[in-house]
Amino acid sequence: MARHPFLCLGVLLLAYTVINATRVKRQEEEGGDDVTAEQLCDGRPGDEYFRLTTDGDCREVVRCDQGGENSVTRLATVRCPGGLAFDIDRQTCDWKPHVKNCDKIEKPRKVMPILKTDEPICSEGKLACGSGDCMEKELFCNGKPDCKDESDENACTVELDPNRAPDCDTNQCRLPDCFCSADGTRIPGAIEPNQVPQMVTITFNGAVNVDNIDLYEQIFNGNRHNPNGCQIRGTFFVSHKYTNYAAVQELHRKGHEISVFSLTHKDDPQYWTSGSYDDWLAEMAGGRLIIERFANITDASIIGVRAPYLRVGGNKQFEMMADQYFVYDASITAPLGRVPIWPYTLYFRMPHKCNGNAHNCPSRSHPVWEMVMNELDRRDDPTFDESLPGCHVVDSCSNIQTGEQFARLLRHNFNRHYTTNRAPLGLHFHASWLKSKKEFRDELIKFIEEMLEKNDVYFTSLIQVIQWMQNPTELSQLRDFQEWKQDKCDVKGQPFCSLPNACPLTTRELPGETLRLFTCMECPNNYPWILDPTGEGFNVRK
Ligand SMILES: *[C@@H]1O[C@H](CO)[C@@H](O)[C@H](O)[C@H]1NC(C)=O
Repeated sequence: MARHPFLCLGVLLLAYTVINATRVKRQEEEGGDDVTAEQLCDGRPGDEYFRLTTDGDCREVVRCDQGGENSVTRLATVRCPGGLAFDIDRQTCDWKPHVKNCDKIEKPRKVMPILKTDEPICSEGKLACGSGDCMEKELFCNGKPDCKDESDENACTVELDPNRAPDCDTNQCRLPDCFCSADGTRIPGAIEPNQVPQMVTITFNGAVNVDNIDLYEQIFNGNRHNPNGCQIRGTFFVSHKYTNYAAVQELHRKGHEISVFSLTHKDDPQYWTSGSYDDWLAEMAGGRLIIERFANITDASIIGVRAPYLRVGGNKQFEMMADQYFVYDASITAPLGRVPIWPYTLYFRMPHKCNGNAHNCPSRSHPVWEMVMNELDRRDDPTFDESLPGCHVVDSCSNIQTGEQFARLLRHNFNRHYTTNRAPLGLHFHASWLKSKKEFRDELIKFIEEMLEKNDVYFTSLIQVIQWMQNPTELSQLRDFQEWKQDKCDVKGQPFCSLPNACPLTTRELPGETLRLFTCMECPNNYPWILDPTGEGFNVRK
């Protein structure tokens, strides 16, 4: 199966071929001598793409493939689709006008630390920089350069960080606080698959407001019940701007889970990937503060975050989460595999490749659950079509054009989970996609109703998944599973306020904009924003 370690504008597939010839011509070598693939690949990571030439249309790059038969080094060629070019710095295809480095052969080489040697170079507790200087092990991959050549920050992936979390050890990692398995596919409590409830988690990302409230009311209309008699639930990752907090309060009252999708939802993926601890703190803890205050959520039930653009912020994001008592992240995607992956805790090393997310997965040990997003299989006819990269948010399965295709996608992916290890099936949406065609909404509702007839399928929030995993309970006992029944099982009654305040507000942080903040609570003085999350007044930091 050809998989690509980068996100390629969601949709656009690359032609992928392996050149068998090991002798290639490289224009830059003096005299135009032939260079062997071995020479080109010496010391080069297998996932780095580079050009053989700067002639041509800038679409073609190669990477080193050491895995072939007899471990011959070969060059695997990748070609961006027409209209696109390969961006060497970002290692991805992009629209041609965006790519400014067609004249560059390769990414600037970073100096690597010397981590693997037969005889240790340094005394105990120290490791060697690229220069051979020794440096305390703890200083490697701590986010700031300590070696003169900065090499201590250049080998920090989940596989390489010298201070990385250890591999899953099931003797140490025990429920209810810790869960891991070597390949991530094991069922908690070693329950037989046919005794595991098939949990389906419907999640929505973004602002909750007049554009989508009607959709949520149609899906969660109060008349659809899980086999235990409780209403089906969803999870809402709420971003702040344009959100109606009276509507959030109502979703929470009905038992849906509210989580944080950041405060600013800033439109710059790099901001999230390389955000500092303080950025993540302001965005996620600040976002939670706003929701709690203006949706009057006082039960400490906001415990999850999702990174905008699913751009995971590495160890900094997770350090902040642990300090702020966030229980789970739901931003890491797992590549489409034969068997889906169960959520896991990050005390031990994550059980799959860091897929997309700009490769900034947390390498260290964190007391945080990862509600991993299994990629969906988007093939229209899985028995016939060749394999395609999966998609994580349903909207990004861009080949889904009709209701019929969507219906098949839902059932096919449901069966992938239901007939294997029954890992929770995540269906992640932006409301605007579901609303873009009435048939999408209708098909989703049809799917929910059909599944609820099965008696072993539950539409749950993410916290309910954690509750089940912490106390794995067989289907035969599940109707009485207390964690899923205790409060808000079947909510009736009226919204907390029928006529929310519609506060017209401004903030110095968003000059020239007047925004309406809908809330059952009192209006603040200013529109809450990142330096002033309570809206009480502007605090100038430092
Ligand atoms: C907010 O919620 C609390 C606890 O549920 C309740 O006692 C209080 O009356 C609510 N406050 C307002 C202003 O609505």
